[in-house]
Amino acid sequence: MPSNPKQHWDAVYDTKSPSEVSWYQVRPELSLALIQARAPDRWSPIIDIGCGASSLLGALATEGYDDLTAVDASAVAVAKAKVRYADLASRIRWIVADITQWMPERRWRVWHDRAVFHFLIETADQDAYVGAMSAALETGATAIIATFALDGPATCSGLPVERYSGATMAKRLGAGFRLVSETPERHLTPKGAVQRFGYCVFERL
Ligand SMILES: C[S@@+](CC[C@H](N)C(=O)[O-])C[C@H]1O[C@@H](n2cnc3c(N)ncnc32)[C@H](O)[C@@H]1O
Repeated sequence: MPSNPKQHWDAVYDTKSPSEVSWYQVRPELSLALIQARAPDRWSPIIDIGCGASSLLGALATEGYDDLTAVDASAVAVAKAKVRYADLASRIRWIVADITQWMPERRWRVWHDRAVFHFLIETADQDAYVGAMSAALETGATAIIATFALDGPATCSGLPVERYSGATMAKRLGAGFRLVSETPERHLTPKGAVQRFGYCVFERL
């Protein structure tokens, strides 16, 4: 990850539409299914890390969830998402922050991250992320982290990534989290390339 991720990501969201980026999904079906399985109660607070231009928050709001928080390092991404979801203003709180330099001031039932943690290739950044996630989740809460799988691409958006299996992610998160499940996903980019992801679900101990 560049020392200033904001610059890189602002440039991406300034120049590309949501459906042009390689990680684009029409509807984040697997994320939705995993969140609903772990947090069926619609009052469950949910935080999406590195929300970007994903349609996850809109889909969750449509499903009836009303305590949603979105974090992204890119002010451009957040500004665009705010306009897109202006009619959901009372249900989504937006935070512009680098997750490696942010500390939560409350707790959530579900922490969701698709394609963000894998950009953290420095141990110190990974440790800071795990620290923020640990503080954000009470015992029994859920962390869903989707990264490129071990046989996934070595880069994304021109940046190097670290790839994981459930076992290596569990080792990286440490004793505060128990691996509940690991689901592979074959993501098809808008240009037709296949990218192998793994969605790991953890319980906060
Ligand atoms: C590959 S995109 C994935 C976006 C979205 N999660 C999805 O699945 O469509 C990575 C996102 O993470 C954000 N991001 C990257 N590094 C970050 C960091 N250190 N803190 C917060 N957000 C970050 C980027 O701005 C970008 O929106």
